[in-house]
Amino acid sequence: MGGCFSKPKPELHCSQAQPRRHRCTLSICPPDPHVEVKIEVVLPEKERAKEEMSPNGKASPLVYKVNGTARHYHLEEHPITINPYQNVKDVVEASVCHVKDLENGQMREVDLGCGKALLIKENGDYYAMGHKCPHYGAPLVKGVLSKGRVRCPWHGACFSIGTGDIEDFPGLDSLPKFQVKIEKEKVYIRASKQALLTQRRTKVMAKCISLSNYNISSTNVLIIGAGAAGLVCAETLRQEGFSDRIVMCTMDRHLPYDRPKLSKSMDSHLDQITLRPKEFFRTNDIEVLTETQVAAVDIKNKIAVFKDGFKMDYNKLLIATGNTPKALSCKGKEVENVFNIRTPEDANRVVKLASSKNAVIVGASFLGMEVAAYLTEKAHSVSVVELEEVPFKKFFGEKVGQALMKLKEVVLKSGKVLRADVCVIGIGASPATGFLKQSGINIDSKGFIVVNKMMQTNIPGVFAAGDAVTFPLALRNNKKVNIPHWQMAHMHGRIAALNMLAHGTEISTVPYLWTAVFGKSLRYAGHGEGFDDVVFQGDLDELKFVAFYTKNEEVIAVASMNYDPIVSKVAEVMASGRAIRKRDVELFVRHGKTGDMSWLTGKGS
Ligand SMILES: Cc1cc2nc3c(=O)[nH]c(=O)nc-3n(C[C@H](O)[C@H](O)[C@H](O)COP(=O)(O)OP(=O)(O)OC[C@H]3O[C@@H](n4cnc5c(N)ncnc54)[C@H](O)[C@@H]3O)c2cc1C
Ligand code: FES
Repeated sequence: MGGCFSKPKPELHCSQAQPRRHRCTLSICPPDPHVEVKIEVVLPEKERAKEEMSPNGKASPLVYKVNGTARHYHLEEHPITINPYQNVKDVVEASVCHVKDLENGQMREVDLGCGKALLIKENGDYYAMGHKCPHYGAPLVKGVLSKGRVRCPWHGACFSIGTGDIEDFPGLDSLPKFQVKIEKEKVYIRASKQALLTQRRTKVMAKCISLSNYNISSTNVLIIGAGAAGLVCAETLRQEGFSDRIVMCTMDRHLPYDRPKLSKSMDSHLDQITLRPKEFFRTNDIEVLTETQVAAVDIKNKIAVFKDGFKMDYNKLLIATGNTPKALSCKGKEVENVFNIRTPEDANRVVKLASSKNAVIVGASFLGMEVAAYLTEKAHSVSVVELEEVPFKKFFGEKVGQALMKLKEVVLKSGKVLRADVCVIGIGASPATGFLKQSGINIDSKGFIVVNKMMQTNIPGVFAAGDAVTFPLALRNNKKVNIPHWQMAHMHGRIAALNMLAHGTEISTVPYLWTAVFGKSLRYAGHGEGFDDVVFQGDLDELKFVAFYTKNEEVIAVASMNYDPIVSKVAEVMASGRAIRKRDVELFVRHGKTGDMSWLTGKGS
């Protein structure tokens, strides 16, 4: 059993007789009125004075206790080392292999003397570039080479083998590109010091030439939101030569940071997760207004109104406000030790409060399970309270959900009290679009901003991107979908920027997401909503499997654990526009050909 929690046998504490004045009870809307679980949050000193017990709270019906086996960090949860090259000379030239060492369609890591490079042969030509993915440092040689690009095995970023440019996300940077020459049947790689040591952007960033004469309350491009979508939009504009003023505003106190890390490396220092340093914004003339909230948008006069009354004119607007965590409808939610994980401060504080104490997580969501896994190493006990019998059932199907559940045990069904020194709420989120209600921008019934394939709203010049939107997904016959994931937010930001510059670029990407549940990475590509069957290969009990989600005889999504690079491989086939037939996948599974994926290329039986 692939358990991954290190604290020896965490205990579940129920109904301990503690002085009432030190407690506050959370109640969670139950679907079943016969079942109740209360969470008693132990109040911190400051809160005790204003404590007021809620009446008998009712809660979700199931509580899972995490197992106490050792937690194994996946390599990708650690911060990346910035530059893999050491002791570099002005020019590095190395003979790296014989021409016969590499077949067409193969990749190989080769030694340059000062570090490694990725050597690729495709259609008789050789290419060389950086060997580590700039996102979290995955070895690209373990990824997928397909028609002029390499897809990362971990989270699906894609790089052109011709230029090293990043073509799909996550991650912000491109790969260094090196020269290859063949002499006397030997392959040589030549690289300048600059190519090896300089972090490559996709293109050289343009300078803003109108800074000196701008009006403080007027900008050309205003970006509301400094998450992945907002940042990629701003960077893409500069990469594409845009030289007018860009202002990005955020309610956050910080410059953009790696939000997915908040639940996976919860005690990371801000510096470790900041996506770009201050100098980057200064050098590239991207102004960031922190702790600034937009309260309304006047589309007729092209004005954004801030909460403090300040107004700013814009020419083009991007709304990338992400989402807001759902709150519990119960008493007790406002106490100091009940958290949503949205900021580095939240994550750091939870770790501190949970240290050797009792943590309760409400909601076995991606976020909830990641936090539970992380805290098990620190806390005395970690309990997860969930409404569903099988977590992730809707998303991953019953069997995958059950397999993940085997790492925990159901310990409490009803009528008990869980003691929580710290409580984390992970019950989902809703789009942060309330401020647009009266704006005239098209918002759907769930609050998502509706955009077309170019990330345009119904209002000319107003674009929207990221978690806050629904957009037509080409992969699923242009069905309007909301995909609240890191890779998609990057891609939306890029497409919005290109279309602000009138490139007429439509979004074409395969959704790719990952989660680090129980210290193991689960990868997922495609869009499986409405799947009618799941075809498995591997061993669910051992958490070494691939699951193909099918609908009407076609594969629409894939998930895997410990099965790299299958998800990247499937994503690459989907990206090429080829359909994957359920029949072919079943044949693959029946013959147990784990290594042979010829069916994926259309050459299989
Ligand atoms: C803890 C956590 C873990 C996650 N883990 C994963 C993962 O493992 N894999 C994955 O694919 N995805 C993960 N996600 C989801 C991922 O982080 C989001 O999909 C992504 O951040 C969305 O980017 P965005 O730019 O749309 O919005 P966000 O990153 O949410 O940024 C929104 C921005 O808008 C600002 N804003 C909001 N309203 C206003 C306003 N009125 N005025 C001014 N500014 C405003 C906010 O301050 C913020 O700067 C995780 C999310 C969280 C919270
Ligand atoms: S490490 Fe390559 S996409 Fe994340």
